[in-house]
Amino acid sequence: MTTDLNLTGLESSFGGSLAITPEDADLLFREARTAQTFTDEPVTDADLQAAWDLTKWGPTAMNTGPLRVLVAAGRDARERLASHMNEGNRQRVLDAPLSLVVAADTGFHTKLATLAPHAAGRVAHFEAEPAMRAAMARTNAMLQSGYLIIALRAVGLAVGPMSGMDAAAIDADLLAGTGWNALAVLNVGHVVGDGGAFPRAARLTWDEASLTR
Ligand SMILES: Cc1cc2nc3c(=O)[nH]c(=O)nc-3n(C[C@H](O)[C@H](O)[C@H](O)COP(=O)(O)O)c2cc1C
Repeated sequence: MTTDLNLTGLESSFGGSLAITPEDADLLFREARTAQTFTDEPVTDADLQAAWDLTKWGPTAMNTGPLRVLVAAGRDARERLASHMNEGNRQRVLDAPLSLVVAADTGFHTKLATLAPHAAGRVAHFEAEPAMRAAMARTNAMLQSGYLIIALRAVGLAVGPMSGMDAAAIDADLLAGTGWNALAVLNVGHVVGDGGAFPRAARLTWDEASLTR
């Protein structure tokens, strides 16, 4: 049985250093789960706008901000997207109220004048190095995808991320002509309880995941 004394102890060991409320830490991290099933409640444009308005402030190399998002809202787009998912992920896309394809814009350098005025002189250098650009876009867009997952949670939504898919097929179909490379699909919506999440698996402790030299 949990006693008040134990709760106080827990709060001081895990919550004492937090600069956000324990409830917010639960919402964003500790109680947020990878959702499998969603209610029919739609995700609004305002929800997505609000999530982006948080996501966009997360740091990226040189402030390049290469994350792009395809919103697969309609039935046709979700059926096409589902056809490119690994079998176990297919029905999840069809059943979700909304699926987002998070992608890396390999042409991010064309926006350097706005996003990184200090580096605007390097556009020609980036133009000549497509492989370097693709790697840089991928690393930073993946980082921003993490920010987006947490931002979606911050606006009260649940997320089911999936990368089991034929990314090249998504690029050739839904992302044709954009220069964007698909990284993952995020199913997004509202849930009841934990959204049918699988049993929670363990996480590494700080001691296991860190080295101090
Ligand atoms: C980038 C990424 C790719 C993932 N790909 C898949 C996937 O293809 N299929 C799947 O069932 N789950 C996938 N997952 C879900 C993870 O297994 C899940 O987020 C993780 O086990 C943590 O689950 P929890 O949030 O419920 O603790 C993916 C998650 C992430 C972040």
